[in-house]
Amino acid sequence: MGFFSKSFDPVTDLPDLSGKVVLITGGNAGIGYSTVKHLARHGAKVYMAARNKSKAEAAIAQLKAEGLGPGNGEVIWLELDLKDPRNAKKTAEEFMKLEKRLDILIENAAVLVENYAMTPDGVQELVMVNVISHVVLTRSLQPLLDQTAAEPNSDVRIIVVASDGHRFVSGQPRFRNLDELNDELKSSFFPSFARYCMSKLQNMLYASELQRRLTAAGSPITVIPIHPGAVNTFTDKPPLANFKFIIKPIVSLFFVQQDEGAYNSVFAAASEEVAKNREKYKGVYLTPVGKIAEPTKTAKDEELAKELWDTVEKFLQEKGLW
Ligand SMILES: NC(=O)c1ccc[n+]([C@@H]2O[C@H](COP(=O)([O-])OP(=O)(O)OC[C@H]3O[C@@H](n4cnc5c(N)ncnc54)[C@H](OP(=O)(O)O)[C@@H]3O)[C@@H](O)[C@H]2O)c1
Repeated sequence: MGFFSKSFDPVTDLPDLSGKVVLITGGNAGIGYSTVKHLARHGAKVYMAARNKSKAEAAIAQLKAEGLGPGNGEVIWLELDLKDPRNAKKTAEEFMKLEKRLDILIENAAVLVENYAMTPDGVQELVMVNVISHVVLTRSLQPLLDQTAAEPNSDVRIIVVASDGHRFVSGQPRFRNLDELNDELKSSFFPSFARYCMSKLQNMLYASELQRRLTAAGSPITVIPIHPGAVNTFTDKPPLANFKFIIKPIVSLFFVQQDEGAYNSVFAAASEEVAKNREKYKGVYLTPVGKIAEPTKTAKDEELAKELWDTVEKFLQEKGLW
């Protein structure tokens, strides 16, 4: 156990999720993988939206090996590469042919700290993956989310895996156009980290704007942006994997293991506490585990959230994806 509170343990604290349908992006690795495991072990049918077939199949085989035995939920791979927003629309359309409900949507996949890269659509890859394609996915799934939310005793939730990294954004960012979304932040001390933090601020703004819009439209859907904590999802991957026996014990002093790193996602997605107090949790920012936290002033800026929404909407309209 790391330095998280022991107050929530999915093994004992999650309800039976039989009959619930979940879609999570990036469930083949890291925090997403463990989120799939916790939810499926409680009976949910989980769609793992991931870009790489062999990685997804290996992850599902690993989940089965770790124990999703008979009587537990199902895990199904759904192809999705978020680099192209058209894929998000296509995946959502395919999903809606497969399922008649969607109870939980978890926007988890992300590009982390990487070199600056541009997509053919003229939006930097990190913003496309972390933000815009998730907007398309959610918007394309909205009819099914609404349909599920209209059913008696339903409890539809959209979880946006953001980060306390949003706290590192300094100054007053603007999102009036694609140039501002594509800012390389070259003058930052650590530009790739600064760009990641900016995308996580955008996750926060998007989640709050989505909640406001859904609530204004009379929807009962709950949107929750979360921070998973400092989670070790890197020592088992190259290039550190070769040295993990040395590095992991040191990293464990500061980072929790990924099974525990999924607790906050799972709390937001499926806990009874949220089910019993839905109004309390609508649009609030949760830090581990299940703690309502104050985001930064910038993350709460409603005008900035609308500015981001409008720029993304305009871009997607031009691409015929809105
Ligand atoms: N780890 C932490 O300490 C921490 C802290 C705060 C917030 N978070 C957030 O937690 C979430 C999960 O992070 P993690 O640490 O678990 O990272 P991770 O282990 O690197 O997992 C990222 C996931 O995103 C997927 N992904 C990346 N690009 C994609 C694309 N183009 N299309 C589809 N899927 C794509 C990856 O798939 P591939 O395997 O195919 O690359 C992988 O499944 C992220 O939103 C991250 O910002 C993490």
